[in-house]
Amino acid sequence: MSVSTSAWDAALYQDQHSFVWRYGANLLELLDPQPGERILDIGCGTGQLTQEIARRGALVTGLDSSAEMLADARKQFPQLTFVLADAARFDFPEPFDAVFSNACLHWIKQKHAEGSVASIAAALRPGGRFVAEFGGHGNIAIVQAALRKVLGTGADDRSPWYFPSIGDYAPLLERHGLEVGNASLFDRPTPLEGEDGLDHWLRMFGQTYLRPLSPEHADHVVHQLVEELRPALYRNGIWTVDYRRIRIVASRRN
Ligand code: BEZ
Repeated sequence: MSVSTSAWDAALYQDQHSFVWRYGANLLELLDPQPGERILDIGCGTGQLTQEIARRGALVTGLDSSAEMLADARKQFPQLTFVLADAARFDFPEPFDAVFSNACLHWIKQKHAEGSVASIAAALRPGGRFVAEFGGHGNIAIVQAALRKVLGTGADDRSPWYFPSIGDYAPLLERHGLEVGNASLFDRPTPLEGEDGLDHWLRMFGQTYLRPLSPEHADHVVHQLVEELRPALYRNGIWTVDYRRIRIVASRRN
């Protein structure tokens, strides 16, 4: 899941944020990996979906830019191949039959999206398929509004995310020879685990905003965000984040 070079807390990711790959299991049905196929899993994180692709008989390579996540992935799945690389700019000597990515590509800022798509297209054999899901236009809009309110309007400039619409992303894919067979944008409200679910989510995924602050100031900001978001996102004891997904199935032209 991770593409930032920052230190990810792989244990927190595993314990509290397993929904990231649990939702991705459904995306695997679209990928439909076949025995013997060479598949690249971009933003593989701790490797759960990489392992699931391998279980179906494909020859899979997991790619992630977080050494912490990959250390965990290699420990859990020592038989699999994992590569430390930047999802915005990578290349492989042999082409893949398919490139898969779950909950990663929104971490590639807009200015690097072109490089990422160019790398994906170059990694595919002619006719190879690209199956991906990530945060789409309007993703976490309520959380972003709270970030703006608590941290000031400059929060947008610090955002590490790009949440494109279909109209933004499909032309980008086509420019790089990827034909879009299917694209959808849909709400997927995502429940978090436990009373501290949003606190954990903010500390895991909001590092870009919190890292420059002292620990005390960061705690204060997280507390402010939690209280700001409580009326909208906390219902009957459950925190639910306003995720919106973009899902793409494309293939490289022959
Ligand atoms: C997402 O999966 O949509 C997401 C995760 C963390 C931060 C922002 C978006």
